Amino acid sequence: MGRIGPLMPNNDSTQTTVDEILNVDEEDSEDESDIFEKPWLLEIDNVPDANRIVGRDDHITFLAKNLRKMRTNSVPDNVLEWGETGTGKTLVARHVCERLEAATAGTDSPIVTAYINPDPISTYTSTFRKIAEQVNAKAENPLDVPYQGLSAEHYRDQKLWPVVQREFSGGLVVIIDEIDKHGEVNEVLYTLSRSQSKDDVDFPVLTIGISNDIEFKGEIESRVQSTLQPEHRTFTPYEEDQLIAILENRRDAFYDGVLDDEVIPTTAELAAEEHGDARRAVRLFRNAGEIADEEGDDIVTANHVLEADELVEVELFMEMVKGTPLSGKLLLFALTRLDRNNPEKEWFRTSEIHEVYQTVARDVEVEPKGYNRALELLNKHVTTGVLESKKKEGGDQGKFRSYSLQGDVESTRTGLINSTPELQTLMGW
Ligand SMILES: Nc1ncnc2c1ncn2[C@@H]1O[C@H](COP(=O)(O)OP(=O)(O)OP(=O)(O)O)[C@@H](O)[C@H]1O
Ligand SMILES: [Mg+2]
Repeated sequence: MGRIGPLMPNNDSTQTTVDEILNVDEEDSEDESDIFEKPWLLEIDNVPDANRIVGRDDHITFLAKNLRKMRTNSVPDNVLEWGETGTGKTLVARHVCERLEAATAGTDSPIVTAYINPDPISTYTSTFRKIAEQVNAKAENPLDVPYQGLSAEHYRDQKLWPVVQREFSGGLVVIIDEIDKHGEVNEVLYTLSRSQSKDDVDFPVLTIGISNDIEFKGEIESRVQSTLQPEHRTFTPYEEDQLIAILENRRDAFYDGVLDDEVIPTTAELAAEEHGDARRAVRLFRNAGEIADEEGDDIVTANHVLEADELVEVELFMEMVKGTPLSGKLLLFALTRLDRNNPEKEWFRTSEIHEVYQTVARDVEVEPKGYNRALELLNKHVTTGVLESKKKEGGDQGKFRSYSLQGDVESTRTGLINSTPELQTLMGW
């Protein structure tokens, strides 16, 4: 701040400094960006308006026609949506449900929808509590839903069904996202699918389950399959031109004229390489703008997108190694060192990695782990997708296993150093 004050402490001058720091000038407020006009359009998991949704007409039409049956006394199908991450599954379900609520509000038979996104501590009971809470929050005369103290059955019989009956006689749609993350999802799906016969409710109750883990299909119990009888919907990754269209439709997040022509094609191309993930595309698009903003540039260019791509890599990598013990991180660091020193090589054997790792461990002043533990930790990284491994047989050396980094060396290194204080000290960061 460079304030030259009197040598003696002076209350007034301190006061001014604090006020200056706290003061936010309208013009240089952080919220004032020269790049973003409507930043919320690029917020992660923002559900865009219909006119911004691209290339999912078949899924939207299917779901809308299916849900419409609730209004005409025909029997709608429960739905399970499958597909890789960022392919529009959540978006389609939420969008159609919002429209359904809007279309039936104010009619004789309004329909209500609830959206459940499980966390690791979701249970059978907490799920029915959440459904009851959401439905009551939308009701004109809500019941009080206590946070605890009721069984799942009571949450349904006392807090859910009476309100749906009274205020949403058109029925209830429950979206359960990421069903594979929910420890008791089989029980939840089973109960929901039997509510008409078991709980004696006389309005339709429909479930839309969502997952990006296709293997989970096999974990849905057969009794659930047979009562739920779901219509399975598969979402395929977006093609590059669809990603271009998705981004074009949100171009107005930026001020007119700040996007260089190459920005959208470059962003779409990079996201298409990652199995056509729209979330990644939107995230890159936004990060590129943020980088331009931070660097004080007036125009967003393809270079900003490339910088953003590296950052996204680093962020994703850091998510993958969250919770990894120090020795696991040092082994990866050793591998990046080998990679850098041997540009012509891609695969490294356990013994080579272990040797470099021992040096790194001593450098950061921890006792290195033995060979077998190192092998175990390296194989953990294979499970989480940080490393690939292959076993090689033959030669004079017998069998051995070697490893290769999945991501690029530099972002792996940056991510490792960012998430490891010991490495930061070592590298003088
Ligand atoms: N067809 C689309 N049109 C416009 N934007 C889209 C489209 N599909 C996805 N998006 C954007 O990508 C984001 C991610 O999509 P969505 O949440 O639906 O993915 P998902 O298939 O549910 O992925 P996950 O399995 O990781 O949850 C959305 O918030 C939205 O911003
Ligand atoms: Mg989703």
